[in-house]
Amino acid sequence: MTQQRIGVAVIGAGMAGRAHCAGYRTAPTLFDPRLPPIHYAAVIDANEAVARDAAMRYGFERSGTDWRELLEADDVDVVSVVVANHLHREIAESLLDAGKHVLCEKPLAATLDDARAMVDAAEKHRDQVAATGFVYRRQPAVAAARDLLTQRLGEASHFNGRYWCDYALDPRAPMTWRYKGGAGTGALADIGSHLIDTAEFICGPIATVGGAALATRVTERAVPVGTTYGHARAELSDVLEPVENDDVATFTATFASGAVGTFSISRIAPGHANSLAFDLMASRGSLSWDMDRPAEFSVLSDLADDGFDGPRTVLVGPAHPYVRGGLPMDFPGVSYGVGDLFGYQARALLEQVAGIDGLPRCAPFADGVRDLTVIDAVRRSAVTGGAAVDVPA
Ligand SMILES: NC(=O)c1ccc[n+]([C@@H]2O[C@H](COP(=O)([O-])OP(=O)(O)OC[C@H]3O[C@@H](n4cnc5c(N)ncnc54)[C@H](O)[C@@H]3O)[C@@H](O)[C@H]2O)c1
Repeated sequence: MTQQRIGVAVIGAGMAGRAHCAGYRTAPTLFDPRLPPIHYAAVIDANEAVARDAAMRYGFERSGTDWRELLEADDVDVVSVVVANHLHREIAESLLDAGKHVLCEKPLAATLDDARAMVDAAEKHRDQVAATGFVYRRQPAVAAARDLLTQRLGEASHFNGRYWCDYALDPRAPMTWRYKGGAGTGALADIGSHLIDTAEFICGPIATVGGAALATRVTERAVPVGTTYGHARAELSDVLEPVENDDVATFTATFASGAVGTFSISRIAPGHANSLAFDLMASRGSLSWDMDRPAEFSVLSDLADDGFDGPRTVLVGPAHPYVRGGLPMDFPGVSYGVGDLFGYQARALLEQVAGIDGLPRCAPFADGVRDLTVIDAVRRSAVTGGAAVDVPA
């Protein structure tokens, strides 16, 4: 099935919403010209100025403040849901009921129950795409690591992963939706969701978790005077509210394959602005990657045991997934950034909607539930003093 024109809209034009807007803009420019024409219909944000600014910057036809207007909009086929996690369920379900294709940000919902209900809603609309925004699967180096493990590194024995950020280090960072919700909805769900998905993307499903610990080190934050988005600083009021969730989360895991995992997640890590990194040990080699330097990884493969074995640095280039045709200048060594991944994600979604074979399909809502199932098991381990908890398959 191919369509005449695909109309897109984005709900939430904060930090990640603008990345979605930019991704839809980039998508038709990538790989080959097979996509049907894209109609840039609407950007919706509760903050009118933010919505208007994003619509203007990214060339969307109109802006608005009420996402419900999209339910009746004939010119909108595909909608990104990029608002606070507790808003995902109502918006996504309403959009699916209205016949729209939906790409919802991670974590899929604020609670596992809400996420499961979203999968039920998606089941009722099987002809529509219901996707979760696990955009880091589309890091060319991460996709290359997965391929290398299967093809050359042998059996994984140990995945050692971390996602360290510093956005919450300063106690003067304003209170936002990110600091609300119970145990496990903080750093673990916000950035740990990416790390867990990356680990399972490369090593397969996690079977058990244990030894979990959650810590909140900044216990209250001031409410901003005006609106704020992302991790932006803001003028603060005198009103202090409690931080309800975790700044730091650690746990161990066992994968169904028998490999073990060690995980470390923090939003208060000094000097680590956005460092998702992992080391992967396997029977015939190892691989390490850090998003601080996204377009390179170190790999040790084909062990010779002759005294000269050691990791070498590989620059990601057109030989690796996504790069050839996926960058305006797809030359070796030109690197890429997170913004490029949103282009790949939007491209994959639009291909799926248009019935075109191309990039790996978007993660379905079920993968969002899967991720929250692991997060919930980590939470249960943490609140029981680190007990081992099985993760349902
Ligand atoms: N995939 C990624 O790399 C990535 C990165 C950051 C955030 N996220 C996810 O994206 C989502 C949004 O995060 P963010 O950092 O962009 O948040 P944000 O706070 O920066 O932006 C949220 C925006 O939603 C708007 N909003 C609030 N209520 C609304 C409503 N009812 N209708 C329309 N708009 C409304 C706000 O005005 C704000 O502009 C979250 O689920 C988050 O986990 C994903």
